[in-house]
Amino acid sequence: MRILSIETSCDETAVALVEAKGGLKKPRFKVLKNEVASQIEVHRPYGGVEPGLARREHIKNLPAVCGSVVREKDWKDIDAVAVTVGPGLEIALWAGIDFARELAKKHKKPLLGANHLEGHLYSPLLSLKESEKNPKLPAIGLVVSGGHTILLALESIDRWKKIGETRDDAVGEAFDKVARLLGLPYPGGPEIQKVAEKGNAESIDFPRPMIHQRNFDFSFSGLKTSVLYYLRDKKLTSKLRADVAASFQRAAIETLVWKTIKAAWAHKAKSVFLAGGVAANKLLRETLSKRAKEEGLEFYMPEFKYSTDNAAMIAVAAYMNHEKGKKYRIKAQANLNL
Ligand code: KG4
Ligand code: ZN
Repeated sequence: MRILSIETSCDETAVALVEAKGGLKKPRFKVLKNEVASQIEVHRPYGGVEPGLARREHIKNLPAVCGSVVREKDWKDIDAVAVTVGPGLEIALWAGIDFARELAKKHKKPLLGANHLEGHLYSPLLSLKESEKNPKLPAIGLVVSGGHTILLALESIDRWKKIGETRDDAVGEAFDKVARLLGLPYPGGPEIQKVAEKGNAESIDFPRPMIHQRNFDFSFSGLKTSVLYYLRDKKLTSKLRADVAASFQRAAIETLVWKTIKAAWAHKAKSVFLAGGVAANKLLRETLSKRAKEEGLEFYMPEFKYSTDNAAMIAVAAYMNHEKGKKYRIKAQANLNL
């Protein structure tokens, strides 16, 4: 099944063309095209994403991004159009939905709604080769993005239970807010990672929130506040900035890794899935992969380019739901969850 997919939930205008096969038994994907037009430069002066601007940029960019993915003659081989219906910024989502609806109508193709978080969760499947075995189950899934921090227990590839999530800020949001405290531009995650390379991660003992509690929830706003208090009355030198970035990054990531491994023990998991924008973080990728292997767990994560928002993962989510017979309503659902 060949799917043209569209993603506009936040500040990336993304379109992909993906060949999917194998059903729920052996889902395998070939990404034929994957284009992302980033709006980072447009939002940077505001220190975060401006919804109205995001919508305007999506509407402006969609025709060209889509045109670089699919030509008129390609449509005869396309089976469906997929679009993110949520979660995300409502008016940004509508930009993608309206565009996708027009395309589907014009080319007489079915329109499939997709859940952005399912896209992230399934993004590691994009790298599975035909010859590789399916991921081992049960699995623990850690989905970490700008808006979400969720732990899931996956019983099968299409059935899961949410076992924990953040009670306040998402971990990506904490990276973005701490970056701002350090005078670094938006988005903060990659900036903190870069600055942290020059810092000493052991120099400041920031808290590992909720690490000793017997649940799988997270809380990152206290960690951010600790950084705020630590910086108060201090002169922000480049050494201090690097040490704070490194120590904060270490605290946030150790918390994620520890809770994920504890969840894997509790649920007798055989593997761990890592996904979402924060999965682009090098320390998180390395630390969780190492810890999972030490515990005898298989570890799956998306390629770097499929960690942050993209449309290839939206095609995967749409395909999995199509195979499962699950349909999303084609309307913006800002608060959709897993
Ligand atoms: O999944 P995503 O692209 O968009 C949402 O669905 O939210 O995630 C964006 C988040 C931002 O908070 C960004 O700072 C964070 O992912 N991020 C990172 C890194 N790259 C992106 N956080 C830590 N380290 C990174 N290298
Ligand atoms: Zn995302």
